Amino acid sequence: MDKEEVIVVENLYKSFDENSILRGINLTLHKGENLGIVGKSGIGKSVLIKSIVRLIEPDAGIINVLGTNILECDSNELNEVRKKVGYLFQGGALYDSMSVRENLLFPIRRTQFKDKQHDTEELIEQSLSSVGLLDAIDKMPSELSGGMKKRIALARTLILKPEIILYDEPTTGLDAVTSGEISELILKIREEYNTAAIIITHDMKCAKIATDSIKIMDEGIFMVEGTYDELSHSEEKEIRDFFI
Ligand SMILES: Nc1ncnc2c1ncn2[C@@H]1O[C@H](COP(=O)(O)OP(=O)(O)OP(=O)(O)O)[C@@H](O)[C@H]1O
Ligand SMILES: [Mg+2]
Repeated sequence: MDKEEVIVVENLYKSFDENSILRGINLTLHKGENLGIVGKSGIGKSVLIKSIVRLIEPDAGIINVLGTNILECDSNELNEVRKKVGYLFQGGALYDSMSVRENLLFPIRRTQFKDKQHDTEELIEQSLSSVGLLDAIDKMPSELSGGMKKRIALARTLILKPEIILYDEPTTGLDAVTSGEISELILKIREEYNTAAIIITHDMKCAKIATDSIKIMDEGIFMVEGTYDELSHSEEKEIRDFFI
């Protein structure tokens, strides 16, 4: 049997004034799948995943997330879906004036998240352990390196036990070794939390390690989908060029 579809996007369009960004995007994400999205800067990758959780209002198309029609549902339904979708923002900002513990508490309070088996402190410890940073619990963001901040931002996403994670450039600004570690961590998180993920990245090492297949976005649509190996050995230079 085919794996369950957790995100289905059909014929999605979005323009900003005269600037047509998404021009008929189609995408299906299955349970347990890590799908990479690659494309030039400014092409609309972030606009697409913001649309998926309706932080941006598309002009036309269908978006179904975990069985909910995102563009037609009411705000309660939308909030319920958003609780199940972790979003690691490009830049991954933590609240600078809050400690790591307070940063992690924030989504729990905002969504009044409850877990029958674990109290709040246990949830915080669990998600920090998942990213290997339990000892940073009382630190302030200013005391953390760039790689640690990314991990804490990921822990903040994990604390609500998401079914889907949207990673927007999870390794940007990190050195090659730390990028590799974050990419491995993305795989570990999938095992531990049984998530599906969309991973937007310019980092081909991350794409190679963390994704099952990759879609290349250009001119408002996906021009091709394949595994890292397939696309990096494509006969078309235009496709191979993304993998240099
Ligand atoms: N809220 C907005 N209002 C107007 N224009 C926007 C808005 N958000 C994005 N855009 C425009 O949409 C285009 C696509 O932006 P987007 O952030 O999706 O690019 P991207 O593919 O994620 O690029 P990068 O790889 O640099 O992150 C850009 O031209 C951007 O200026
Ligand atoms: Mg972007």
